[in-house]
Amino acid sequence: MFKTAIITASDKGYKGIRKDLSGPTINQLLKNTIYDVVSYEILSDDKLPLIKRLKELCDSDITLILTTGGTGFSPRDNMPEATRAVIEKEVPGIPEAMRAYSLKITPAGMLSRAVAGIRKQTLIINLPGSPKAVKECLSYILPSLEHGLKIMT
Ligand code: MTE
Repeated sequence: MFKTAIITASDKGYKGIRKDLSGPTINQLLKNTIYDVVSYEILSDDKLPLIKRLKELCDSDITLILTTGGTGFSPRDNMPEATRAVIEKEVPGIPEAMRAYSLKITPAGMLSRAVAGIRKQTLIINLPGSPKAVKECLSYILPSLEHGLKIMT
């Protein structure tokens, strides 16, 4: 089993103004798989707290961090920048694959600036923010992750 953490970046979710449906969608997609979700949290879109938490999780025994939200064009969308500040190696193929697949479904797929990369023995993957986008992107990449994670640890 790969220990997995979920982070939702959402100002409205953090303040309790909007119910987070995307984090639970990730959790649902990982049920009865080799991914053991041990942590789920909603953070604001502030960059520095995102960086701090990503680092803490990478420095723990978590193998995979899946983030959702904050990958678009809004001034408050900071997840790709926070991820880049933390990773040691970028893994461009994962967001490339997500965007290529997303474009078959919607032209808006090009609007996600999602990043993926490795810090120590943890892979961080940004997913877009809507439950629909989470479902589409995660179900597409999930079958290919196991091999990469096995050789990473
Ligand atoms: N990718 C898929 N597969 N399906 C989608 O519906 N929505 C897009 C894009 N990626 C979408 C998608 C939209 S509308 C936006 S604005 C960007 O992801 C960024 O979303 P975020 O800011 O919520 O992360």
